[in-house]
Amino acid sequence: MPDIQFTLPPTICQISRLIWQQEGKAFLVGGPVRDLLLNLPCPDWDIAVDFGVRENRLLVERKMAHLLQKTANHLKGKFVFHRQFLTGTVTLPDEKKIDICHTRRESYLKPATLPRVAPAAIDDDLVRRDFTINALALELTPDGTTLIDPFQGRQDLNHRLVRILHPKSFIDDPTRIFRAIRFAIRLDYRIESGTLYLLRAAVKERYPALLTPERILYELRCILAESAALKMVEALLRENVLKSCWTHWHLDRTLLSGLKKLARQGATPKELFCYLLSFLPINEKFPITTEERDTAWLLRHLNPLRRRLMRAKRASTIYHLLKPVPETLLLIMMKLEKRAIQKKCRLFYHQLRFIKPETSAASLINCGVPSGPEIGRLLRRLHNARLDKKVHTREEEIKLLKRWIGKGC
Ligand code: CTP
Repeated sequence: MPDIQFTLPPTICQISRLIWQQEGKAFLVGGPVRDLLLNLPCPDWDIAVDFGVRENRLLVERKMAHLLQKTANHLKGKFVFHRQFLTGTVTLPDEKKIDICHTRRESYLKPATLPRVAPAAIDDDLVRRDFTINALALELTPDGTTLIDPFQGRQDLNHRLVRILHPKSFIDDPTRIFRAIRFAIRLDYRIESGTLYLLRAAVKERYPALLTPERILYELRCILAESAALKMVEALLRENVLKSCWTHWHLDRTLLSGLKKLARQGATPKELFCYLLSFLPINEKFPITTEERDTAWLLRHLNPLRRRLMRAKRASTIYHLLKPVPETLLLIMMKLEKRAIQKKCRLFYHQLRFIKPETSAASLINCGVPSGPEIGRLLRRLHNARLDKKVHTREEEIKLLKRWIGKGC
């Protein structure tokens, strides 16, 4: 019996119709159902489909591929399909993404590894999930919607509790330790006492250390993108979660004070992430960009640059010191460093990096300078003169050049 009416976006209704046309059952699952019940805006839509074919894996894969293709065509988007996990993502023309998965059962061969997946019914699909408040589905039928709530998730939403579904949950998937903290703080819920006991036991047993850096960093990125990121990091530290990820890692007190200062000044998730990264034992397995790696490294070895910046008087010196610095680091320095350094970073960021000489190599050749390395040297000198406000216009540049050339420069 349909029991709850929600207003769903037209795209979701269109996808449901495509699923029914292929004689599948359509469900909204996990986060979106939680957010709908809480009346919160829903950033991502996760759809599950059950084609009712259990044994014939190949047929399920074929039907999924067909559905994804049809959905992408219908919505003028693109899709990717991860056969192994029976999951797909459709990217709409406005870059919004919708995940479409087959309802499935998961089995973990070893703790903290990715699970093996087999097609199954919606109940099996909900059993494999992290928390009762996420183990919810909304069946979408032509007559309306029906809530499927086998673990009393709705009751836990009312009681404001984050609760796992079974005692091995954190062992099967230690990323749930990060997620429990993230949801509890985001929603201002409590972690239910039995769940908290098992979370602490899993941390003590160092299950997070079994996770790949990729999975740990994914969770940290998610946390740092939240508006209550700081409280979440505090909780991770209080519960020793980061310590349990890396053997010899010790908390440096400046981590929290730095993050606090950055957050107060409106730092972006990327800046917060790079700052946190600079305290982690980065190795070559960390899936981070070159900019993130360089920023984190420089943050740890900032003293020589700090000293040179403190001494720098001329704009051109400041320019050359800061030019090789990654943009994210510069933005962090503008928020964290002492005033004198902040000022120089701001000068570079807002003005100096845009200043260029107006004279080109071609004009130098016109002035009679023979082509070769001398051209580059003169252009660099001109650039410095422009940065240091010794010249302000193209005419003044030419005048200065003539003086240099006349002097045999
Ligand atoms: N899930 C899980 N265990 C995980 C990750 C995800 O059981 N380690 C399940 C949960 O049911 C979750 C769903 O997969 O609701 C989708 O995961 P994700 O998109 O990461 O979470 P959301 O609940 O949608 O959270 P958010 O609001 O942050 O997008």
